[in-house]
Amino acid sequence: MLRPPDPPLSDGVITLRPFEDSDVDTIYDACQDPEIQRFIPVPRPYRRDDAVAYVRRTQRQWADGSKAAFAIVDANDPTTVLGAINVAISGSVGNSGYWITPAARGRGIATRALRLLTGWALGELGLGVVLLEIRPDNDRSIRVAQACGYHYAGRLDVNTATGKKGGLIFTRMAV
Ligand SMILES: CC(C)(COP(=O)(O)OP(=O)(O)OC[C@H]1O[C@@H](n2cnc3c(N)ncnc32)[C@H](O)[C@@H]1OP(=O)(O)O)[C@@H](O)C(=O)NCCC(=O)NCCS
Repeated sequence: MLRPPDPPLSDGVITLRPFEDSDVDTIYDACQDPEIQRFIPVPRPYRRDDAVAYVRRTQRQWADGSKAAFAIVDANDPTTVLGAINVAISGSVGNSGYWITPAARGRGIATRALRLLTGWALGELGLGVVLLEIRPDNDRSIRVAQACGYHYAGRLDVNTATGKKGGLIFTRMAV
């Protein structure tokens, strides 16, 4: 069983905590955003039931150890969800993904969240490597990855998350 870090991961500005049922409306609203629909393999159209199912799935994934999924929340107000970040775990390899609500973008939130998640995954969790699959036209996400010490490692013929061609792999290894 995978356990959420206790105390929760935080840098004083954001905190990462597991999703709760009360987060459904924010997830539903965020997943209407064209940028999230463009870069993340979410259902289209995205319905409220998809958000309900997502929260339940993240709870199962914590229990079966397959994925650590966190709501990114304001450190001073854990009810304000700013985004989502997760790491799927396969042996010693982690595969991470993230999104930030449109209103919270451009303030370094994704960079803070990926930095916290990566430190935990390569530290306490003991993974050997975390990888990101990023579309070549997702400049912002590439900037986030590089700011968190990820390096370009190659191009995928087919992106394993989206089925689309030509995704870029960025990796960060444990030291
Ligand atoms: C990508 C995403 C997570 C970034 O979140 P964010 O909190 O706004 O990111 P940050 O503020 O931490 O950093 C954004 C970086 O992109 C840069 N940036 C902003 N707009 C940009 C643009 N149009 N082109 C290039 N870079 C841009 C910022 O300057 C910053 O880089 P810097 O720190 O070197 O200045 C967010 O835009 C998002 O949710 N997008 C849709 C979902 C998605 O693409 N997820 C990632 C899938 S791999």
